[in-house]
Amino acid sequence: MASAPSSTSYSEPQYAKAQDRLKVPFYTPDIASRLVPETQELLEKYSNVPRDQQVEHVHLIRDKAWDIRAYPCIGLGVWLTPQLRRLPAYPDIVSRLKGGASLMDVGTFIGHDLRRLVYDGAPSENLFGVDIVNHFDLGYEFFRDRDRFRGAFIEADFLSSSSPELVALKGKIDIVLVSQLLHQWDWDDQVKALETLIGFTRPGSSIVGNQIGNSTAQSVPVKPDSSVKIWRHNTESLDEMFQQAGKATGSKWETQAWLRSSEEMGWDDKALAWMEPNVCVIEFVANRVS
Ligand SMILES: C[S@@+](CC[C@H](N)C(=O)[O-])C[C@H]1O[C@@H](n2cnc3c(N)ncnc32)[C@H](O)[C@@H]1O
Repeated sequence: MASAPSSTSYSEPQYAKAQDRLKVPFYTPDIASRLVPETQELLEKYSNVPRDQQVEHVHLIRDKAWDIRAYPCIGLGVWLTPQLRRLPAYPDIVSRLKGGASLMDVGTFIGHDLRRLVYDGAPSENLFGVDIVNHFDLGYEFFRDRDRFRGAFIEADFLSSSSPELVALKGKIDIVLVSQLLHQWDWDDQVKALETLIGFTRPGSSIVGNQIGNSTAQSVPVKPDSSVKIWRHNTESLDEMFQQAGKATGSKWETQAWLRSSEEMGWDDKALAWMEPNVCVIEFVANRVS
């Protein structure tokens, strides 16, 4: 098993540090249009937030979250449109969870994908949410479920080996969910991060998720800080990354991936428009065969 990177300098991108919301292209003051019917239903039926209070509720939580970390997906309200649920493997994931499988959502933010899984029938007991910073209290505030959500939240850098809670999960997770996270790094660091994620799996496990991709695999500068580069995958380079990380960790992986437009993700044009040409979302399912 390759060791996790010792430096924490690449654990979080520069742009996630506090930013003036009025000066970045990825903070939309009004994200009411992101409150899609699926999320309205979740908030109403799972969280007991009446429809006429939901717009205010969403903006309140988004702004509190922005004050913790200035991620584009937070500012744009992308997390309000269910993403995992669109993955072709979603019904299979829910059925595996109902059968007792475990799932770890790495970079869980407020744990929105975990709540969606619970609403869709997964027991919350075998769910783990990991994040480098505590967005979890906001998650309880958003979903109003502190008294009934039984999943565990772990505040840790997933690249670090110093969290006993994470170490206890090594080799034990059936499904690792990693969405909108690996794309914050360039190729080498994405491979190293994937090697760390593989450390949580065993044969038969899956790693699933999505991230920003491009029909042409390439390294692109982050806007507005163009000195930092990040890797955009297409389906071929994503598979190559799994093969490379698999080799380094003594595991074998079969991947499936799909390139999706902003529209296919249920997002509006603004979500990707500020990025480079041919940008898209890449969804993936990788199964560990040995
Ligand atoms: C862009 S958000 C994506 C949230 C969610 N997964 C989604 O798809 O909507 C990235 C999340 O990853 C977390 N994160 C970034 N670097 C991390 C690290 N090294 N370890 C754990 N979490 C990290 C951030 O705090 C943030 O909540």
